[in-house]
Amino acid sequence: MKYNEIRKTFLDFFESKGHKIVPSASLIPNDPTLLFTVAGMVPWKGILQGTEPAFAPRVADVQKCIRAGGKHNDLDEVGYDGRHHTFFEMVGNWSFGDYFKEGAIEYSWELLTKVLGLDPAKLRVTTHETDEESTAIWKKVAGKDAIRLGDKDNWWSAGDTGPCGPCTEIFYDFGADIENEDDRWVEIWNDVFMQYDRDANGNLTPLPKKNVDTGGGLERWAAIMQGKVDNYDTDLFVGLMKSIEDVVGVQKNAENTPSFKVIADHLRAVGFAIADGVIPSNTDRGYVIRRILRRAMRHGQMLGHKGALLSKLYPALITEMGAAYPELAREESRVVEIIQNEENAFADMLQNGMKLLENEIPKVNNNVLPGEVAFKLFDTYGFPLDLTQMILRDKNIDVDVAGFEKSMAEQKERSRANTKGTRTLWESQTQLSDTDDTKKYMPENEMESKVLSILRNGEFVQSANAGDEVEVALDKTNFYGTQGGQVGDSGEIKKDDNTVMNVSEAARVNNVVIHKGVLTDSLNVGDTVKTIINQSARQQTARAHTATHLLQAALRHVLNEDVEQRGSKVSPDSVRFDFSFGRAMTPEEKQATEDLINQWINADMPVKHEEMSLDEAKSKGAMALFGEKYGDTVKVITAGDVSCELCGGTHIYHTGEIIRAKINKEKSISSGIRRITMSVGTLAE
Ligand code: ALA
Repeated sequence: MKYNEIRKTFLDFFESKGHKIVPSASLIPNDPTLLFTVAGMVPWKGILQGTEPAFAPRVADVQKCIRAGGKHNDLDEVGYDGRHHTFFEMVGNWSFGDYFKEGAIEYSWELLTKVLGLDPAKLRVTTHETDEESTAIWKKVAGKDAIRLGDKDNWWSAGDTGPCGPCTEIFYDFGADIENEDDRWVEIWNDVFMQYDRDANGNLTPLPKKNVDTGGGLERWAAIMQGKVDNYDTDLFVGLMKSIEDVVGVQKNAENTPSFKVIADHLRAVGFAIADGVIPSNTDRGYVIRRILRRAMRHGQMLGHKGALLSKLYPALITEMGAAYPELAREESRVVEIIQNEENAFADMLQNGMKLLENEIPKVNNNVLPGEVAFKLFDTYGFPLDLTQMILRDKNIDVDVAGFEKSMAEQKERSRANTKGTRTLWESQTQLSDTDDTKKYMPENEMESKVLSILRNGEFVQSANAGDEVEVALDKTNFYGTQGGQVGDSGEIKKDDNTVMNVSEAARVNNVVIHKGVLTDSLNVGDTVKTIINQSARQQTARAHTATHLLQAALRHVLNEDVEQRGSKVSPDSVRFDFSFGRAMTPEEKQATEDLINQWINADMPVKHEEMSLDEAKSKGAMALFGEKYGDTVKVITAGDVSCELCGGTHIYHTGEIIRAKINKEKSISSGIRRITMSVGTLAE
């Protein structure tokens, strides 16, 4: 039975038992305690806790899950066995206060043995050591003597807090010829009896209703149904492996199979996560996805492949899974572009970092790589710690993690000291402020300019080398430097078509744009360079900035005309907006504000960008920031007939480009000042 049939058989079975069938929720949970949706129950946490009403007493679905980077983390296992995945599909059925232990166990047994036809003799069950009831039900329903285990094995929760309870697990016997017990007996279904809510102190409170939460890994079910021991030998993965062979130009064999597995797994995690709106970054879930993508590239390199990998494989993911998950095809162009940007940024660093590591390996004592070396790989070449660990694992070398963390802390301290210091240093470069072009923001994607100054470790230098962390001023630039609450552009600087610097942020000192980042090749004062901004990040920032203006206008409509901006931070696809208002907004007011903004987005109103005299702007009624100084000529941004503001930031040209806005939080930050955080674009979708 193929994946698509098993999915359908599962859902049809529970539909016939009166369950409402729903589509998978997003991999990005609506839950700050989790990085990803780690189980089918995550979208239903509120219902289980009793804070949200149940929309049906019985529900079933197949949920996209990622277990990486949090409490449930399978990242390190992937590739080395046949049953671990960072991304997987979880089949699940729920009872919200309807049937309980007996119903759940009966359904599981009927589906596995009657519908899917598994041999009852090959199934084993476990129950919690305190759970007499489930143990008796198993005896009655299946004639099975459950193995009794403690909290470690038979108590389940998604995070450290929230709904939890004892569980009963079903294991499948892959055959006595498999020596390793963990490979022989594989858990295929977990029925959790959600009875308690755990608070931050570990106290358990009985939930208002007794619920059932079950979960089974579709990949393991497919292996059993297809007579395979290894999930990666099932139809879906066979298809992906074939595409990997085509892209890397190498046949899969016994030796290189782990790399094939890692790439296939990581393609699913990265592809699905980005399709759901995760953007690779240096924090939280964005960083987990960046790490996974970089690990996949390393395995591509081990197969002799250079450069773009997952972006080339993404169409194969659509072929295998697009019918069950239409978002994959819908988001294709955006996902491929984001993956390509990441791959381009990392490709050279991977080659150079590997050279450094290969030089260091012969020097290793007692099989431990010094923490400073691992830190240099992280800091200069973008190697996440777990990537370095993974590379060394095959050579039986560990990393001194404490030393790595120490180097990291020292670096943070240095850069804190540096940020204070470099401002004064740049201010001393008086010749720069005379260079008019450095002050302006240019709309071009790419332009040619000349290196005026390079600052490294608190000193202006004539030249700097690969690996150096530097700040660079140019005679002109298209980078927008952080200002007026809008974060600066990121991107790269090239010399003769080679990337020489990855710019992490363009800052601004006295109106001069300072490019901050790490060199990947040498750079000299006087060099002619090409400056290329990260287009998608700029577009995401521009739409977030226009959305900020709409937010201010909407607040004035919904609350009152006296609402005034008190501060803001505009980043790619996200907005933080502080404003004067004396009390918390009601849920209705928040909804009305969000609705109004989305109505304006849907109306796709033109956004005008104009320059005029300050007097003219005032007579047009343009809003200005309280206490801000403006020059004689000002920029005015007008969105349809709803907003007109003085603003030097970057903006889009039609409100429709914002796609969507979603208010996430509204809270007090000081007396009379409230703060709203809002997502826009695909992040809000
Ligand atoms: N939520 C349970 C699990 O993930 C079913 O194992």
